[in-house]
Amino acid sequence: MGRTYYFPPIVIMGPGAVELIVPEIMKMNVKKALVVTDKVLIEAGVVEEVTKVLDEAQIAYAVFSDVKPNPTVKNVNDGYQALQENECDFVISIGGGSPQDTGKGIAILATNPGDLRDYEGVGKTANKSIPIVAINTTAGTASEATINYVITDEDRKVKMVIVDPNSIATVAVNDPILMLKMPKSLTAATGMDALTHAIEGYTTAGASAFTDLFNLEAIKVISASLRKAVEDGDDLDARDAMAYGQFVTGMGFSNGGLGIVHSMAHQLGGFYDLPHGVANAVLLPHVVAYNADSVGDRLKDVAVAMGLDISRREPKEINIMAIDAIKKLSKDVGIPAGLAELGVKEEDFPTLADLALADACTPGNPKCPSKEDIIAIYKSAF
Ligand SMILES: [Fe+2]
Repeated sequence: MGRTYYFPPIVIMGPGAVELIVPEIMKMNVKKALVVTDKVLIEAGVVEEVTKVLDEAQIAYAVFSDVKPNPTVKNVNDGYQALQENECDFVISIGGGSPQDTGKGIAILATNPGDLRDYEGVGKTANKSIPIVAINTTAGTASEATINYVITDEDRKVKMVIVDPNSIATVAVNDPILMLKMPKSLTAATGMDALTHAIEGYTTAGASAFTDLFNLEAIKVISASLRKAVEDGDDLDARDAMAYGQFVTGMGFSNGGLGIVHSMAHQLGGFYDLPHGVANAVLLPHVVAYNADSVGDRLKDVAVAMGLDISRREPKEINIMAIDAIKKLSKDVGIPAGLAELGVKEEDFPTLADLALADACTPGNPKCPSKEDIIAIYKSAF
């Protein structure tokens, strides 16, 4: 059966990539950018690395720097208002998942009337967004590569997953020089998010030979480079490898889907404002163990991609080796071992499980979970 795959039309990668946005913007027939970012990136001087390129090329822009971690519907609405007030006709999003996701929401509202909440779910908008130049500064959510974005509905305390090909960036940029200033904890959390994308993306019900190419490559690259990027933030080769690894799995999972690590992590983010990558990292080995009997010999491929020697090992042993390798990587980069350490409350598990079951990522899980299954996984990760 035929199938459609979505990729950003223009991809710019590698050290110095930011400077290459200029000729692409010149071709876009646009007048003024809304730079969507957050205050931390402004203070760290990361935004200036981009705006100096815009200044030199005399590209007009206004800055909306009010993006919050786990951005909300209000956040997107405020950004859309800034876009209108400043008469901007395209978006340059600078940052990790939060600015990228906010930028997508703003760009979608510019061409699709109404409330962002109307677009929760899969493919709900009629029109392509205004152009987005998505400059990623973490490695990462890969939001610059994907058709997905996540916005918190503060009234319902729910992270809305919006899957919408109309929101894909026109230009996706990964410049590892912009990632050098990322602190260790953020490098670790975003890197484990990327590993989760790759492993969930490789074992999801929606995987195909095409998405496998991206996700397996990413497992290999991320497993080999994440520790180095966390240990030495100035290691440009490790940063470049992580930027590439997270981007390729972005192209994989965006077109194949994810599973219940993300469904369950989204609720922890919505409830406790936990960093997305940390929630994923804690849940990942427990969900992989739960799914192990439903993914054929795919954990063997994961184990090999993670660099494990599986010769003369039984399939069950290999599964355990893969799960242990995920736990070890997570521990080595400083991720807490359990949800209890993160302030999660056991009495919330039934509510979290109900919300996780309704999450847009759940149908992609290789095994159909019950509410009791989800609660049991939260408990095992506690
Ligand atoms: Fe993620």
